[in-house]
Amino acid sequence: MDQNEQYFKIYPVGVIKKVDDERDCIEVFPPYVVALDHLGDGFTHIIVLWWAHQNDTPEARSVLKGKPPNHPAPVMGVFATRSPYRPNPILMTVVRLLSLEENKIYVKKFEAFDQTPVIDVKPYLPNSDCFINARVPTYFEKISKPRTD
Ligand SMILES: C[S@@+](CC[C@H](N)C(=O)[O-])C[C@H]1O[C@@H](n2cnc3c(N)ncnc32)[C@H](O)[C@@H]1O
Repeated sequence: MDQNEQYFKIYPVGVIKKVDDERDCIEVFPPYVVALDHLGDGFTHIIVLWWAHQNDTPEARSVLKGKPPNHPAPVMGVFATRSPYRPNPILMTVVRLLSLEENKIYVKKFEAFDQTPVIDVKPYLPNSDCFINARVPTYFEKISKPRTD
């Protein structure tokens, strides 16, 4: 099969629910609750992969270049950016895990809209995900300070 004809199924495992000014909740769907076992053992952060469902249109999925907002970056290929407009609207955020209550993962409020489909959750592992020698182009330097939350 030609690679361009391949496609894959993605099943949402949960959904983002806005809670208040501080917190969001990832409500995990019943068939996947067992997959949360031991997530509450002491991980401080998780990686949330989410589907930018409002951009799941042929137009948004055909965007391949853009200029990152709010700083002096050039027009860039979307694979060099964190644009929400991309061929597959898969976005990811590393977020502080606050608590886990049955099928509800409470996290620090982040940028996904209410009702955004969640497609995966993984623990953030510093030895795999944190590079202390990571660098970015000079035009990104102002926004590249490591987070402390
Ligand atoms: C700049 S993108 C970056 C996302 C993620 N941190 C990443 O790097 O993949 C985040 C933006 O996506 C937009 N957004 C949030 N939820 C969305 C959704 N369900 N569908 C489409 N766009 C969404 C919001 O405007 C938000 O500021």
